[in-house]
Amino acid sequence: MTRMTFALAVMLALPLAAASCSDLTDESTASDNSAALGDAIPGTNATTFAAARNNFGLTETQGDGLGPIFNERSCSACHSNGSIGGAGQNIERRYGTLTNGVFNGLAATGGSLRQLFGIGGFNPSPGVNCQSGTDANPAPGATIFAGRMTTPTFGLGLVELISDGTIQGIAAAQPAAIRGVAVTNQIHLTSGIFTRGQTHVSRFGWKAVHASLADFAADAYLNEMGITTDHCAAGSVVRDFATENRANRAPTNAVINGCPDDMVPGTDDSVAEETNNCAGGLTEVQDDVANFAFFMRNLAPAPRGIDNSNGRGLTEFNREGCNGCHVTTTFTVTANGRSQSFQPFSDFLVHDMGSLGDGIGNDGDSVAVTHRMRTAPLWGIRFRNGLLHDARTSDKATAIQNHAGQGAAAAAAFNSASSAQRNDLLLFLSSL
Ligand code: HEC
Ligand code: HEC
Repeated sequence: MTRMTFALAVMLALPLAAASCSDLTDESTASDNSAALGDAIPGTNATTFAAARNNFGLTETQGDGLGPIFNERSCSACHSNGSIGGAGQNIERRYGTLTNGVFNGLAATGGSLRQLFGIGGFNPSPGVNCQSGTDANPAPGATIFAGRMTTPTFGLGLVELISDGTIQGIAAAQPAAIRGVAVTNQIHLTSGIFTRGQTHVSRFGWKAVHASLADFAADAYLNEMGITTDHCAAGSVVRDFATENRANRAPTNAVINGCPDDMVPGTDDSVAEETNNCAGGLTEVQDDVANFAFFMRNLAPAPRGIDNSNGRGLTEFNREGCNGCHVTTTFTVTANGRSQSFQPFSDFLVHDMGSLGDGIGNDGDSVAVTHRMRTAPLWGIRFRNGLLHDARTSDKATAIQNHAGQGAAAAAAFNSASSAQRNDLLLFLSSL
């Protein structure tokens, strides 16, 4: 893609966040209901936002480096419910197995994420016939299979600005029976408030795998679309997202000698190549990734709807212990130089959800650890179809009744509530 460095300049101009949180005392401060679904947060440059959104919606081709194996051709092909950036019907496939009782993501055969499609036959140069192949289904050796539904990205730029200490503080205050775990990971890309190599509290994805939206974007660009990128951080080339996935991690896609991984040999979008290996101490995120991050960082939370339970549902939500994990905290961060408040109804911690957990983890994780899932943020849930990580239901009551492990007591409280109480709770959820 063409370079659009203006987006990066705007991103770097983002002020450092000061995050705090307070108990919900006044619902009217909880969210700014003036924004429509898909709007930008206040203070966002409209032209830059529109360009970044277009990039998020752009369909990539083989000439752009799509594949060799991939799940879709644009971010918005999956993230589209209600508006660009939303949730989606696409369900990713994960797999793995247990080796000596601990999780094994079968990286040697291309796990734990399966790519569903391949570009098929391609001709990188005249007379050279190549084949991408496709990931075998089921993957050789896999015994654990999980679906992961596409989550919405509304409001995530604000979530990114919640301080690590705020999230860790929520965990510390939780009763032991439901206490969650703050997942930490190393930052890959120097972007926004983050510097490569820092450790931060991860908060994005069903398992809380990234703290930074730029990191998530580069990861998705590679693993969902097969577009490799490199980046510059203080003069060093960052190649963390520069290795193509190949069908079941075959050593080569070649049907004859001379086949590259895909139509674009080397890194599909290489900043290092354009900048003489990041000479001059350069820090730069590849332009598409920078645009994806800019779009998501400035995408407003879904507006709140009308609560037809007249407040009774929130009381019931708290009585049943839902707020233990789906905390009612109103978070306040500084974004675009303005104080912005929001209520995502998540602690951004992972919890042992017992049989609801999807059984997928990192290599070496115990079975218990593979049952950990991030508390799903409930904001914007009225714009959603499938619920729970594998979209097994669209019925909110069923989703609640599927809570197990640390969520079992809340599910039991819901089950033993009167039908009027349940109805109030469901009306409240339908207002989010
Ligand atoms: C094939 C479908 C698909 C495509 C294409 C796709 N995503 Fe996603 N996205 C998903 C799924 C599924 C999840 C949940 C993944 C998980 O947690 O396991 C997700 C989660 C996310 C999240 C985390 C949201 C949260 O709830 O914390 C971000 C951010 C994101 N995607 C950004 C992107 C960007 C940027 C692109 C384009 C480069 C992209 N996605 C392309 C399917 C897709
Ligand atoms: C121990 C923490 C915990 C408690 C308590 C809890 N939840 Fe959850 N909730 C989660 C987690 C984790 C998920 C995501 C689970 C998954 O999909 O694997 C979730 C998912 C959901 C979903 C589906 C959201 C989506 O994006 O698909 C709904 C709805 C929900 N919870 C409502 C409730 C209600 C209502 C209560 C109280 C009766 C409650 N939860 C209590 C942790 C909790």
